[in-house]
Amino acid sequence: MTASNPHRLKADPDAPPAPALAREVAATLARGGLVALPTETVYGLAANATDPAAVAAIYAAKGRPQFNPLISHVESLAAAEQHGIFDETARRLAAAFWPGPLTLVVPKRPESPVAALATAGLATIALRVPRHALTRGLIAGFGRPVAAPSANPSGRLSPTTADAVAEGLGEKVDLIVDAGACPVGLESTIVACLEGTPRLLRPGGISRADIERVIGRDLVTAPSVEDARPAAPGMLASHYAPHARVRLEAKSVAPGEALLAFGPDLPPGAEAAAMVLNLSKAGDTVEAAANLFGHLARLDRSGAPAIAVMPIPAEGLGEAIRDRLARAAAPRP
Ligand code: TXA
Ligand code: MG
Repeated sequence: MTASNPHRLKADPDAPPAPALAREVAATLARGGLVALPTETVYGLAANATDPAAVAAIYAAKGRPQFNPLISHVESLAAAEQHGIFDETARRLAAAFWPGPLTLVVPKRPESPVAALATAGLATIALRVPRHALTRGLIAGFGRPVAAPSANPSGRLSPTTADAVAEGLGEKVDLIVDAGACPVGLESTIVACLEGTPRLLRPGGISRADIERVIGRDLVTAPSVEDARPAAPGMLASHYAPHARVRLEAKSVAPGEALLAFGPDLPPGAEAAAMVLNLSKAGDTVEAAANLFGHLARLDRSGAPAIAVMPIPAEGLGEAIRDRLARAAAPRP
């Protein structure tokens, strides 16, 4: 291992973590770092789900052009219920398959500290309790939900070994926990339990038949993740969709408008804006991503009829930020 390689620690997958490992993982997550963690399905690229800057770092490391919502990993159903609202079906599925390769998408509790960026601004949250004894112990030791997509660069195969993680993400990860090959080797099955109709969003480590046996009815297949969203496709969830009109590529601010700024220089009219919040004075798209949903919500609460948004460059996370803003600015039904 050379000095430039990410720090890599070997551990037994079937035992709870040694205290020194648990401390190091918790400390890395607490300071906003990225940790590659083995699960029974695939390796995950983990960060503190309640820290928007750490979540932004996940998107930056993966090079995702969009803020796909992430799965929050927790240690138990009790922990999951602090972040999501479980109906009868969701609770039954959790009881049957957790810990294990099942992810449940449920309404997000408004009081959940999980960052809006981790759920891509949706009113729903994906939750999973992994079966992997080592990683479940690490999550319990950290004591907060851990956002973790598969630990591969966007568009590449999900990694099932630490070598594959190192090859794909290398120095973008602060720490790789190496517990050998993942036993399932296929991502978790995702079921949305929303508005009374359980839907299969992604086939995976638990079969449809096993799920249907537990819920006693057929699973509707959602042709795309969008179809699981209670909000209209392409819209931000209602509590993040601004009430204000959103005006993009603003070169000036009209009287009464609020301003979502980016970079060191403000446009003409900014002095008279109803409110000004800057995504990143330094013009850093990772910092801007971390602030995006929070700033939009605060500007909206100012009561200004419109939010002027300064141009955001398409580099780095700028592409995903622009995608989200375009949706927020799209005509409302
Ligand atoms: O096995 C797995 O699930 C692995 C390990 C690391 O846990 N994780 C994983 O994460 O596959 P990822 O990010 O590669 O896939 C998560 C999927 C995405 O397709 C995302 O769109 C969907 O979950 N998802 C997350 N939150 C959602 C939500 N609120 N509504 C609908 N789909 C959601
Ligand atoms: Mg993936």
